[in-house]
Amino acid sequence: MRILGIETSCDETGAAIVDNGINIVSNIVASSQELHIKTGGIIPERAAREQVKSIIPVIEEALSPKTPDVDAIAVTVGPGLIGSLLVGVETAKTLAYIWNKPIIPVNHLLAHLYANWLENKNPPSFPLIALIVSGGHTELLLMTGHGKYKWLGGTRDDAAGEAFDKIARLLGLGYPGGPAIAVTAGKFTMRHTPNVIKLPRPMINSDNFDFSFSGLKTAVLREIKKTSLSHNQKFITNIAYEVQESITDVLVEKALRTARETNVKNIILAGGVAANQRLREKFKDAIKDRCSLFVPSPSLCTDNAAAIAACAFFNRNFSPWQKISVNPSLGL
Ligand code: KG4
Ligand code: ZN
Repeated sequence: MRILGIETSCDETGAAIVDNGINIVSNIVASSQELHIKTGGIIPERAAREQVKSIIPVIEEALSPKTPDVDAIAVTVGPGLIGSLLVGVETAKTLAYIWNKPIIPVNHLLAHLYANWLENKNPPSFPLIALIVSGGHTELLLMTGHGKYKWLGGTRDDAAGEAFDKIARLLGLGYPGGPAIAVTAGKFTMRHTPNVIKLPRPMINSDNFDFSFSGLKTAVLREIKKTSLSHNQKFITNIAYEVQESITDVLVEKALRTARETNVKNIILAGGVAANQRLREKFKDAIKDRCSLFVPSPSLCTDNAAAIAACAFFNRNFSPWQKISVNPSLGL
């Protein structure tokens, strides 16, 4: 089955052709990130305006050189920014009407997980613990099959990606914050830094499956206020390093504890923060041979339409185009 996936939930515009939920025929992503760098974050109205301009060229590129015969169109219906979602959903409905094809509505959060099935000869098996770490979400799920899952816990305030983004902004490191903090953290050396600043690991030992990252941002703010060196490169690299260590320590510890307590042997990671190299290394080191770890390639961790098409294939809830509408606050 050949599916055209469309993704426009945030600032990316994506279109992809995926065969049988696994084989990527094409996967095109256009981002309006350049615009948001100037403002230090996304302005939803501007993101949607850019998506209106790029959606048709992106779909055309995904369908080229010759428009393939697709069996269905998959589109993100939520969660996300309403204006952005509308661009993808209305385009998908129009194509479904013209081509007389069904639509498969897709939950963006679940779609992130399906990046683990793409181009993977040994895809994850169930049951598994799924950790979704994106810009707006930090969620732990127990999955027992496609579309069969139990939500175990999530963040009580800021998501991991949101913490990276907000703290990067406080440090003047720009947007998106995760990659910016990762690059800066990589320059940190303990040896040349007197009085190394340590930051807390929020809720690392709490007796539940929840997270909280807003306190980390407050702790950084406190350090900035305490010093006259907040523009000093050593100070900034020290804080960036500790922020990355704190977030990755908490994510690894909590996900592993969840797997232990539920006696599940497979862990899958998904979402933009799963592209973080330090997080990937720490998971590999901590897991050893206790569990199997699945992580998509970094480019498939961040928003893309191939994951939308894969999710649609494995959860085939076909709908006529008339029944499809956006749901910005769609949950799990
Ligand atoms: O999944 P995603 O592309 O979009 C959402 O659905 O939110 O995730 C975006 C988030 C941003 O917060 C970004 O800073 C973070 O993922 N991110 C990273 C890295 N790449 C993207 N965080 C840490 N390290 C990275 N390498
Ligand atoms: Zn996402």
